[in-house]
Amino acid sequence: MADIGEIIERIPGVAVRKDELLSLHTTLGVGGPCDLMVWVSDAPALAEVIGAATTEDLPFMVLGSGSNVLVRDGGIEGIVIRLTGDFARIEVDSCRIRAGAGADLAGVVSAATAAGVGGFEFLGGVPGTVGGAVAGNAGTADEWISRRIAELDVLDDGRRARTVAAAGFEFGYRRAAIPAGWVITGAVLAGYAADVESVRRTVEDRLEARRRSQPVGERTAGCVFKNPADVPAGKLIDEAGLKGLEVGGARVSTLHSNFIVNTGGATAREILELIQIVRKRVEDSYGTNLELEIKVIGRN
Ligand code: EPU
Repeated sequence: MADIGEIIERIPGVAVRKDELLSLHTTLGVGGPCDLMVWVSDAPALAEVIGAATTEDLPFMVLGSGSNVLVRDGGIEGIVIRLTGDFARIEVDSCRIRAGAGADLAGVVSAATAAGVGGFEFLGGVPGTVGGAVAGNAGTADEWISRRIAELDVLDDGRRARTVAAAGFEFGYRRAAIPAGWVITGAVLAGYAADVESVRRTVEDRLEARRRSQPVGERTAGCVFKNPADVPAGKLIDEAGLKGLEVGGARVSTLHSNFIVNTGGATAREILELIQIVRKRVEDSYGTNLELEIKVIGRN
């Protein structure tokens, strides 16, 4: 690893740390080390980093704010890329917002609110970066970011920076069909002219509703399971009597059963065990096979 670390470190606009623990970079606060964590601040640097990884045959992935992933205790092989600098920019031009993939959704919501751009209120309190939100079509139960995406900035599998119309991509519930090997580097989001005060109030209402119904501020990765078509996963888990169930430091939230909380010192293994128990109990009680919404990645 020393060699590739040194090669990447010499690329302008890049910072590198070896054996960085993913538990420091995920909202659940679990996950072992990656070989290299690489902070990249512009598109040319990103192309070079990916080029170096490809030449060395080293796997790489981009991590956003780590708010929808469960990284296993063995960590991640290869390079974990974080997008900063240019990739964290947010620019408002009339009712269009150009945001880098590394920008926080909260920043997009603030920028839209300040500029009186409507259409992003539903993202109030949704954790994550723009890149992660696009890749997982983040949103609420009934409003997803895909309906606001006009264009995507990407680095394609040939390491070419391109801007492509979002209409060419298929988005579904917590799902986006982005071609393998492409990295989302930004998005142009389209809203509409609205009254600043009414946007602000709607965002505030959304935040308040979330604080009432979800364990905001605790260590979680958001909803663990996708909602089945007929009944919300949280309702099924609740009715199966699993609220508050614990394995080690992992607990089914007592506020919202589709959240698992790291109450302190949980391991990924404990969280995964709790997930298995919840799945089995819901399957036994209702015959419903809950599908994971969070992404489980890394080595055992
Ligand atoms: N419910 C219970 N017990 C619980 C939790 C929920 O009975 O412990 C019931 C609620 O009373 C309600 C129903 O289940 O009748 C649905 O609950 P809620 O309104 O909280 O919404 P949800 O379907 O559980 C979805 C998204 C959330 C999003 C909220 C608000 C999914 C898997 N979840 O939750 O998204 O924040 O709507 O829009 O689609 C996420 O994606 O990480 C996430 C948290």
